[in-house]
Amino acid sequence: MSKRLAGKVALITGGSRGLGAAIATTLAEQGADVAITYVASAQKAAAVAVALEAKGVRALAIRSDQGDPSSAKPLVDQVISHFGRLDILVNNAALAIQGKRIDDPQIDNAALDQQWRVNVLGVVATIRAAAPVITDGGRIISVGSGLGTRVGFAGTTDYAASKAAIVGYAKGAARDLGPRNITVNVVQPGVMATDMAAGSADKLPPSFMDTHAIGRFATVEEVAAVIAFIAGPDAGYMTGSVVDVNGGFTA
Ligand SMILES: NC(=O)c1ccc[n+]([C@@H]2O[C@H](COP(=O)([O-])OP(=O)(O)OC[C@H]3O[C@@H](n4cnc5c(N)ncnc54)[C@H](OP(=O)(O)O)[C@@H]3O)[C@@H](O)[C@H]2O)c1
Repeated sequence: MSKRLAGKVALITGGSRGLGAAIATTLAEQGADVAITYVASAQKAAAVAVALEAKGVRALAIRSDQGDPSSAKPLVDQVISHFGRLDILVNNAALAIQGKRIDDPQIDNAALDQQWRVNVLGVVATIRAAAPVITDGGRIISVGSGLGTRVGFAGTTDYAASKAAIVGYAKGAARDLGPRNITVNVVQPGVMATDMAAGSADKLPPSFMDTHAIGRFATVEEVAAVIAFIAGPDAGYMTGSVVDVNGGFTA
């Protein structure tokens, strides 16, 4: 595989499992040194880092709670201190609190508030911490959701809104950082068979896949490949964009 990202350093939040681990793997296969974060899965994160190093790149797993915005600057500082630079930031970590309508008396407002902290405030804090130090020509990619554009079913109001919020932030950041040729984009996956989807798939309406042009889940590799393209040298004029990888859910 072409080492298009050789010499680059990437930080991927939530790289211990699911899509984040796939993104870390794909970027490492293209030659990038990779830092991943986790909050609970120390052993899984360590195993991902070992697998990345086996691909011949440097790797580091860092425990950093994205639900605490004050942890963002220490995280970025640790990446710079360890690797000497930061070129690619992928804001991947998120929570999905879904399944109850907002008028349900049983709705868990504390969990929904935590989702806003992780999915929005944490992403904002990480972009703010990275922006001054990421290299000129760098890449910032946030992982949104097809639900950020088209909600499609009930019970996911706050999650969908959190994903819509990071689109607006990416567009603003693209304007702010464009003079340094730093691109800022959002990739919106469709449903993938990760732990996150395992927690919500049974809450999806049975007809949900009928709303897709391609009636299956995405693979994490399909989404990671698009993120790697945006992280790479051929995507330098692509910024402020929202890229759907959702089987036509928003078509
Ligand atoms: N799965 C889907 O169907 C789907 C669809 C559309 C969009 N997405 C988006 O794709 C991205 C990845 O989702 P996924 O399905 O891979 O999720 P996942 O399987 O639930 O993995 C979540 C990752 O985020 C980390 N994380 C969670 N809370 C964190 C926190 N407070 N601080 C730091 N890290 C934290 C987890 O770390 P630990 O292992 O330590 O908990 C884990 O590495 C998310 O942005 C999600 O919204 C997913």
